[in-house]
Amino acid sequence: MDRRRFFIIGSVVGSVAVSTGCGGGGGGATTPPTGTAPPPASPPVSNPPAATPVSPLTVGQPLTELVRLANTSTTPDEFAATLVAQRANKAMLPGTSTEFWTYNARVPGPLIDVYEGDTVRIRLENQLSQETTVHWHGLPVPPAQDGNPMDPIAPGATRTYEFTLPVGSAGTYWYHPHPHELTSEQVFRGMAGLLIVRSRTDPVPTAIEEKLLVISDLRLAADGTIPANTPMDWQTGREGNYVLVNGQYQPVLTIKPGQSQRWRILNATNARYLRLALTGHTITLIGTDGGLLRSPVPGLDEIMLAPAERVEVIVTASLSSQASAVLQTLPYNRGGMGMMGSSSATIALLTLTYTSAATAAVALPSALNSLADLGVPTTTKRLVFSSGMGMGGMGGGMMSFLIDGKSFDPARIDLTSRANEVEQWTIENRSSMDHPFHLHGTQFQVVSRTRSGVTATEPYLAWRDTVNVVAFESVVLKVVQHQLGKRMYHCHILEHESQGMMGVLDVVA
Ligand code: C2O
Ligand code: CU
Ligand code: CU
Repeated sequence: MDRRRFFIIGSVVGSVAVSTGCGGGGGGATTPPTGTAPPPASPPVSNPPAATPVSPLTVGQPLTELVRLANTSTTPDEFAATLVAQRANKAMLPGTSTEFWTYNARVPGPLIDVYEGDTVRIRLENQLSQETTVHWHGLPVPPAQDGNPMDPIAPGATRTYEFTLPVGSAGTYWYHPHPHELTSEQVFRGMAGLLIVRSRTDPVPTAIEEKLLVISDLRLAADGTIPANTPMDWQTGREGNYVLVNGQYQPVLTIKPGQSQRWRILNATNARYLRLALTGHTITLIGTDGGLLRSPVPGLDEIMLAPAERVEVIVTASLSSQASAVLQTLPYNRGGMGMMGSSSATIALLTLTYTSAATAAVALPSALNSLADLGVPTTTKRLVFSSGMGMGGMGGGMMSFLIDGKSFDPARIDLTSRANEVEQWTIENRSSMDHPFHLHGTQFQVVSRTRSGVTATEPYLAWRDTVNVVAFESVVLKVVQHQLGKRMYHCHILEHESQGMMGVLDVVA
């Protein structure tokens, strides 16, 4: 482990449980006392190099568990709760206060933990000064309940989202805002949370302890504020100068020698690609966005998690007692112009520390899920990602990011599908940078990926709602939509999405 990366400044800070006047509950972190002098004036930090901290944050704290959103319903199979979109302050850099935009004053937002078959009713109270929506990323909810940009919640307004989770939907999802042109900002200021749908017949033994890791990006200026996007961010996608796990900077997770843990990991960053590796260990992949694989895929040295993707993995403490390891993200070049130090740096995310008392390993079943192939497609679609100089979107006169040559228009329908029909989609990336493709309302199966004329068939079946399309690559996938109405599809680099790299799919009978 590289100790030089660690700057210990003492003082116990919990997860970024930000405290506000009306209280978001517990957490231990506080805003600076009212008498604190403002920080000395410093030149505005326009675009700090990615992953270069401007000043130390507290590191080495035990990883905090996500705070669970409490269920206020007493009816069986029903989950009811309120999310408040609100500003909240938290001391991140010594002597400064950082204003986040949050759900319930938490960064990341509270964990929504529900079961297949549950009816979920969540009230959103918008206390922000701009419109918002809540999008249930990856879930098969009705289009009218999915937080589309066409259905904004005005500042001061409230609405209730309601949907029932079908059997078979168990998986690792998340929720985040999706307002027209404002998604990038609302997410980088703190609004995103994990949503787990559990199966009552989960095949993974409960003796395999579960750990939830929400990875997010934070950019702080020297005065502790979160700066707006620069023109460069709007092009390449915004990365922060801190990568956080559950709102903490480089926390510590403990494991017993011999123990296996099930980690659910969410990439909640706007644009950072995570090439996850755990030093001295291999990783077993058991699940993707929409649930478990048919069987475990062991022995992986690394796992790529593009923005918005999730995985479930098994980590086994195979070293001796008192060992430790670092969960890190390895260099990755996702293309684009003048790309950024981020691609050349290895960044530590979390330290895994072994305790002394060993425990017996728990075996994983070899069959996890009866995941069936979607079958033979009866129709095809092709989408083309491109970028070019243009006047479109919010970056007027700058690079524009387009799907099929068009920028998003909420009033336009770009594609039409028939409900319950198996379709084959080809996503062709004709630009020089990677774009993670995401489709709302369902899970798809990747069939193959073609790069430089070479086609690789996907090695295993998996449910996904987001797939990275490497620069100049084509990805073929199979998909079925089951509910009628308008679905969004877009690049999940949120700066591209917010500038219009998005389209509308109308699902008809
Ligand atoms: Cu995660 Cu359209 O979004
Ligand atoms: Cu989504
Ligand atoms: Cu993109």
